[in-house]
Amino acid sequence: MNDRHEVLGQPRKNAYRDTWATGAIEQPIGKEIQVSGWAHRRRDHGGLVFIDLRDRSGIIQIVFHPDVAAAAHEAAGTLRAEDVISVKGKLIKRDEAVVNLAIPTGHLELQASEIEILARSETPPFQVDEDGHVDEALRLKHRYLDLRRGTITPNLKLRHRVTQTIRRVLDEHDFLEVETPNLTRPTPEGARDYLVPSRVKPGGWYALPQSPQLYKQLLMVGGLERYFQIARCFRDEDLRADRQPEFTQLDLEMSFVEEEDVIAITEAVLKEVLADAGIFVETPFQRMCYDEAMGRFGKDAPDLRYGLEIQNLDEVFAASEFKVFNSVLTGGGTVRAINAGKRELSRADLDELTEFVKGHGAGGLVWAFVEEDGGWRSPIAKFLSAEEIAAATAAMGAEVGDVILAVADAKKNTAAGALGALRERLARQFDLIPFGEHRLVWIVKFPMLEFDDDAQAWTPLHHPFTAPDGDLNDPANLGSRAYDIVMDGWEIGGGSIRINTVEVQEKILDIIGIDRAEAEERFGFLLEALKYGAPPHGGLAIGLDRLVTLLAGAESIRDVIAFPKSATGADPLTGAPAGVDEQQIRDLHIVSTAPRTDD
Ligand code: AMO
Repeated sequence: MNDRHEVLGQPRKNAYRDTWATGAIEQPIGKEIQVSGWAHRRRDHGGLVFIDLRDRSGIIQIVFHPDVAAAAHEAAGTLRAEDVISVKGKLIKRDEAVVNLAIPTGHLELQASEIEILARSETPPFQVDEDGHVDEALRLKHRYLDLRRGTITPNLKLRHRVTQTIRRVLDEHDFLEVETPNLTRPTPEGARDYLVPSRVKPGGWYALPQSPQLYKQLLMVGGLERYFQIARCFRDEDLRADRQPEFTQLDLEMSFVEEEDVIAITEAVLKEVLADAGIFVETPFQRMCYDEAMGRFGKDAPDLRYGLEIQNLDEVFAASEFKVFNSVLTGGGTVRAINAGKRELSRADLDELTEFVKGHGAGGLVWAFVEEDGGWRSPIAKFLSAEEIAAATAAMGAEVGDVILAVADAKKNTAAGALGALRERLARQFDLIPFGEHRLVWIVKFPMLEFDDDAQAWTPLHHPFTAPDGDLNDPANLGSRAYDIVMDGWEIGGGSIRINTVEVQEKILDIIGIDRAEAEERFGFLLEALKYGAPPHGGLAIGLDRLVTLLAGAESIRDVIAFPKSATGADPLTGAPAGVDEQQIRDLHIVSTAPRTDD
């Protein structure tokens, strides 16, 4: 905390302060000033009391001298960490010997003449004046104290700057900021909805929006041409490190545009936002087709900051007599591998990596170390011919000492996905990610649909309002006009050109198995709107929390949100979700089937 400070404008003089703690450096020595804040730390030394007073700007040391102000000195002697105080006094220079170069005010101190104790603090559950590790659950329960520690606040400041920049740049490009409702009907973005029961319409439910998707399209039908919103979205889905049940999007939409227009405006915004965080990037950003990303990196949000690319060994092993490869390949499957380079990996390490890829759907992991003589030290070496080994080594660009890690699977995306996850793990494990480097890439040419084996049906890769590209009668090969923006292996945003005619929209709904009655019930209002002349339109949404997490170099999305939910979706501070009054439930015309709890 000590080394964090913020330059703030001069405060308006009131009953509490006329100067920020750090603002004292702009005042002449000898000046009488008044500061207010928290007692950060107290030291008693040689009959004097020293208090570090902390406000948002930083810290100033206050000295209480018994001969200068006896009453103030006595009061200061009772102060405990985190008491709230207001102090008047005179700025004096510190002796050379006690100058503190770690803080901007380190060469001066405030000699107190008066102190008012505004509020006392109990002993906090963790120390506010130290940067040491504190369990996250405890930090979130007392987030207001965590905020005082000063590790989260810089992220919130960055987030503030980012939203200011977004508003400025989009305003310069004639976008209108428009708010859309939070009490609405379900938006099909693929997650579960948070539902809100209606009191006045028994049996009626609102859904909280998973995104403003349908409303922004209606704004385009309404002729607004260019819209944006810093929108809160709600999705009841399994949480991961980069997900929150409620999160914020920079959502935008434009009329009479093609992919290039949306991409250009997004790049203009991102370039300036990144600059706010001291990251300078060239536009246009790199682009990569979906198939290439899946093939080389095993995911549609590839991290391009390091190598370890996935190679396809189908041809090398096409005629292999090794049973596992043979049966996978003749069944239309694939053998893929990563050259992990020269790594010390014990049997236990390899077993752990095997478990890891199994956790990502693969049947197992084949490992092979390239030896001096060009042969492999590998459990499968004895099943392979010398030619196969030589060809695989060459295809992998492997040298003596390198370790090759391979997965064979009936499904291409399973093999690639497992290796994609392995690639990220190896990069972290072996510290392969260059510090301070950032890579942005657009992923384009997505397929429109993927076949869901469980449901035995086509489902859209993006939402069902995405414009298709290709022959609507050939769902397996139908492309889409979607694009995602990826930064450092995280999907930070995505969007598309939309369907703007009711005929095409209905056809897509048919393909994905939403019949007319269901379509009418779920988003009849959109289909109706499309009948009244919808302009060609498209847009995108950027996950603001994810973006700021990357810009701040934060460990978790929770570190850029003032009051985040925990990994289980609960709010440790308020205790939500919690039980409610029986009467409230009755008023909402619902009956709970949950066992009674006492919370
Ligand atoms: P999509 O569902 O891809 O698109 O969401 C856009 C971006 O929002 C962020 N995001 C999340 N961030 C935190 N927690 C979550 N649970 C979460 N879910 C999504 C991601 C993602 O890239 N309406 C479309 C956009 C459009 O087509 O214009 C949409 O919502 O960074």
